[in-house]
Parts: sequence; structure tokens; C-alpha cells
Amino acid sequence: MCGITGYVGLRSAAPLLIAGLEKLEYRGYDSSGIGVLPADHSKIEIAKTPGKIKVLKDLLAANPLPQANLGISHSRWATHGAPTKSNAHPHFDGSQKILVVHNGIIENYEELKVRLQQKGHKFLSQTDTEVVPHLIEEYYRGDFLAAVQKALKELKGSFALGILCSDYPDTLIAARLGSPLIVGIGKNENFIASDVPAILDQTKKVVYLKDGELAVLKKDSVAVYDLAGKKVPLKVDTVKFSVESVQKQGFAHFMLKEIHEQPDVVGHMLKSRVCGDNVVLDGLSLSDRQLKKTLRIFIVACGTAYHAGLLGKYLIEKFAHIPVGVEAASEFRYREQLVDKNTLVIAISQSGETADTLAAVKECRNKGAKVLAVCNVVGSSLTRESDGVLYTHAGPEIGVASTKAYTAQLTMLYLLALKLGDVTGILSKGEQKSFISELKRIPEHFREILKSKALIAKIAKPYAHVGCFLFLGRNINYPSALEGALKLKEISYIPAEGYAAGEMKHGPIALIDEYRAVVCIAPQSEIYEKMISNMQEIRARKGKIIAIATEGDEGIVAHATNVIYIPKTHELLTPLLAALPLQLLAYYVAVQLKCDVDQPRNLAKSVTVE
Ligand code: F6R
Repeated sequence: MCGITGYVGLRSAAPLLIAGLEKLEYRGYDSSGIGVLPADHSKIEIAKTPGKIKVLKDLLAANPLPQANLGISHSRWATHGAPTKSNAHPHFDGSQKILVVHNGIIENYEELKVRLQQKGHKFLSQTDTEVVPHLIEEYYRGDFLAAVQKALKELKGSFALGILCSDYPDTLIAARLGSPLIVGIGKNENFIASDVPAILDQTKKVVYLKDGELAVLKKDSVAVYDLAGKKVPLKVDTVKFSVESVQKQGFAHFMLKEIHEQPDVVGHMLKSRVCGDNVVLDGLSLSDRQLKKTLRIFIVACGTAYHAGLLGKYLIEKFAHIPVGVEAASEFRYREQLVDKNTLVIAISQSGETADTLAAVKECRNKGAKVLAVCNVVGSSLTRESDGVLYTHAGPEIGVASTKAYTAQLTMLYLLALKLGDVTGILSKGEQKSFISELKRIPEHFREILKSKALIAKIAKPYAHVGCFLFLGRNINYPSALEGALKLKEISYIPAEGYAAGEMKHGPIALIDEYRAVVCIAPQSEIYEKMISNMQEIRARKGKIIAIATEGDEGIVAHATNVIYIPKTHELLTPLLAALPLQLLAYYVAVQLKCDVDQPRNLAKSVTVE
């Protein structure tokens, strides 16, 4: 969602701040802005505008900001108030001394706004954010830090803040509660950012601020304080991933690059998590005894991660006979959660910052359940709220549409299900061994599928103008159907629905005619014949069919308009293989329609607000 960058040092701040914002573009936004404070100038200068960062750059080229070595910048994804210039960040207080950029939501802003208005404060925007600089102004008596500390105590909700004060031309203050914020440590310069890619080409040394922490940055020092105002020791981490990992490296889009990374991502996961014929789950933090006592599992997640969770249910129930409930975190958090100390809650999230997933996890932990996170981003909020963490280590995912994070989540769920099957004794050693040997072949199968991308691009072409898509799958490929539909609709804006194929006759069949397309996920399996019957019913109604089938299945050609083949594998592993053609199909349809594949409209990479 929104992005923050901040800089204090010896170099010119504005170009660094804009470059940082560009690296955060993938998160999704609809306006942007910047504010700088020149050392010899007692006035903060700002520029802001709706639209893409390119618009802000053009604005700055026409009306340059004064040279300054201190500044903050922001890209906003509108929540409170439309994406207009006045709602764009940064926001001033009434005296134009205090300047604030903010990610998250100030939940008590209405009450604060009324109180501040009664004291004479005038507001220029519809945002919740604007109360923050005014509240700081209210407490400001010449001590910047003290005023910020007092104001923070009154804010409810979630926030990451970057703050300037014109009386302090050498100081940048940052604070975090619930929304991610990092401090980047440089030589004679320091940075803040809402995500690592913003500063990765400047420094790899970072401090991950914890909830309730506030940092005071000068060019040659960083001091971190807790909510009570007590200094806390600085914990500097080194970011492991490379600058290249956040660049397109010759691919037309990050999404395409990330689709191509999947053989390596899954390959590395298997190398590090499988030792001989045993699954090694470092980070699990639950002993075999504790796992054996697990009577029930809940999987909570959102979007694509939720679809991964749905597959997790099939696998764990099959391998370990433990009942699994899977629910969208946004629903789960608001109903009676029947969890206790014998319940394991598995929270799946690429970013580890999804507000609903975090809230669901907090509720469950309060009720005594153990929480295990399956997460990609090291040090994210979810990993701190969980008892154990299984990192997928898929590397930074920049494309808004999740691809490699999804197949990494699936892979982790296969491994976890195998582990549970082992400790419960439901899965014999022989069964584990043969399944693991098939699992190890997945990266090679992925490479095969990627070789057919030109064919998938060709198949996709005429479908770009189809008015509506259905995606059908059965059993373990029902989640694949949901994920295929989500991928297509989010990047191409074509309405698409995922259904369990057996449900087709209960409603969706009414949609089918010669103008609609149906993607049928039909690999060889126990229920293959049932999928073929569904396909015949669709053909009888002139629907166009793209079938995803197992290599060698020539019979299916008679039932489909087009066929995309995946290599032969264990039936339970077909969802992993089906994911790639579905991603590529969505990608090429969206490219054909000239859509903004990496930053689809209205979407944000991590949904840090409810
Ligand atoms: C779709 C997509 C989203 C995310 C969802 C959860 O391609 O990326 O549906 O899967 O917003 O995000 P995380 O996994 O970061 O919790």
C-alpha cells in the first residue's frame, strides 16, 4: 500500500527520495509527494500531486525544490479521501513547521480532529493523517522529540510515520505502530523506508523498527526509543537479498520474471528443507510431541495465500488425518474462534503485514492457540506475532499479483503435511519417500512448462476479448481454479469466477455460451472422467474450453478448444504444476489488453489496512 522514504545526510535529498518511491511503486498508490528542509532555510518546501510518480517528477522538473539534505516522501493509496493533491502526503500542521508522511490508519482521527478544531486548528484535507502534524504542533514548545512522543501516546490505529520540523534542519523522526518501517544505516547518511527495496541500492544495513518504537535520525547517528521514551539498543541487520533481485533483469515485467524464478525458488526450498528422505522444518518451534497433540488446525490467510491454505487442508487431512478449517482472515477475525491450546493456527502471508491476517492471529493467540506463520518477508509483523515461522525465502516479490510466493507457500504446505503425516504415523516411511522423490522433480517440471510459454501466449491471444471466464477444478485442483480466476481478473480486469466443477450445474452453467471461456483443470486423476463430463456439458453449450491436462493425454483434444499440457506427476502435486500455466495465461491475456501487469489498478501489494 502506501510507501514512505526519508533521508538525512550529505547528498541531495530529493533525487534519493524520488528514486526510493519508484522502488516502492509496486506496492500500489494513486498520488505522491515530497517535502525537503534546506539547512540554510527555515522553511519546509513541498510538492505533491495525484497520479504516478512520473507526474511528480515532471512537476519537480518544472518547479524544482531547493537543494536540501533532509526530506521525506510518500506514495499514497487512498483510504480517507479521494486521490487529490490536498489529500496527498506530506501534510503540514497549521504553522507549516511540522511535516508528516503516514502509512496506516489513525482510527481515532475524527475525535482528535474535533478536539483540535475546537482549539482553532484548520484542516485542509479529508485524511486521517492530517491530525498527526496538528497534534504534534499542539504539544510543540521547542522540543521536537518530546512533542512527537506526547502526540504518539494519543494515536490509536496503525501507523508508520516520517516527521520533519523546520526548527531541526538536521533531524528526521520516524515512528512505527502496526505498519512496517525500517531505518537504513549509511555512512554520513541515514534513511527510513516502509520496505527494504526502497533503500537497497544505498545500504544493506537496516534496523527493523518494532511496534511502539520511535527513531531519531541525524546524518551520523540513529537513536531508537520505546513508547515509554526509554532508549533501546540498536539492532542492525544485514539484508540478505541482492539489488538484482528487485530489478527486472531483462524481463518485460516483474510478474514474468517472478514466474520464471519458480524453479529456483522451489528447488532451493527443497534443498534446504529435505535431508535424505526427511523433511526438516527449522523454525517450526513445535516439538513432535506438541504436534501429535494437535487436535485441530485452522489456516487463516487472504487472497492467493488463502487459496494456498485451501490446498493445505486437502494435504494435511490426507497425510495426517487432522481436521483442518480454512478461512479468509477477514471473516475469521470477526466470529467466534473455537480455538484452544490444542489448536494449531497456520497463518499464511507473503508480506507478513496483511492487517486481517495479523488481527486473526492475535485473537487466536489470546485464546491460547499456537500460531505457525508461513511467510516470505523476514522480520515482518506476522513473524513477530507467531510462535513459529516457516520462511519460504522466495525472495522479494514485486509484481502485485502473487506468483512465486504462491508456489512457495504450496511447497511449504506439502512439506508441513508430510511432517505431520510422519509424526502422526498416518503416512508410512515408504509413502513419504516416494512422495518426496516426486516433489524433488517439481523444479524440473516447472522448467518444462516454462518452455511452452510461447504456445501459452499464442493460446491467450484470442481469449483477451472474451467477456467472462469460468475456472473449474475438482478436489485438490479446486483451489487452483480459484487462484487461476483471481490471477486473471486482478491483472486483466476480465470478470472471472473459480468454481468446484461439481458445482457447475448448480448455477454457473447458465453463464456458458459461445462468448464465454472456461478453463478446465483436468490432469490425470481419480476424478478425471468427471472433469471430462463437465467439459462435454460446456461444449454442448458452445463454450470455449482451455484445458490444462497431463502430457500424453491426447484424448482430451476432442473435448477442448485448446490444451496446455503439464508434465506427469503424482496426482497430489498437480496443483503446483497447474499454477504456472494459469499464471502465464493470465499474464499473456493482460499483456494483450495492454494492462499494467505489475501494478493493476486499485490494488496494493500488501494490504496493511482492513
Ligand atoms: C493476489 C495477491 C493477494 C495476496 C493477499 C494476501 O495475487 O497477491 O490476493 O495474496 O493480499 O497477501 P499476503 O500474502 O501478503 O498476506
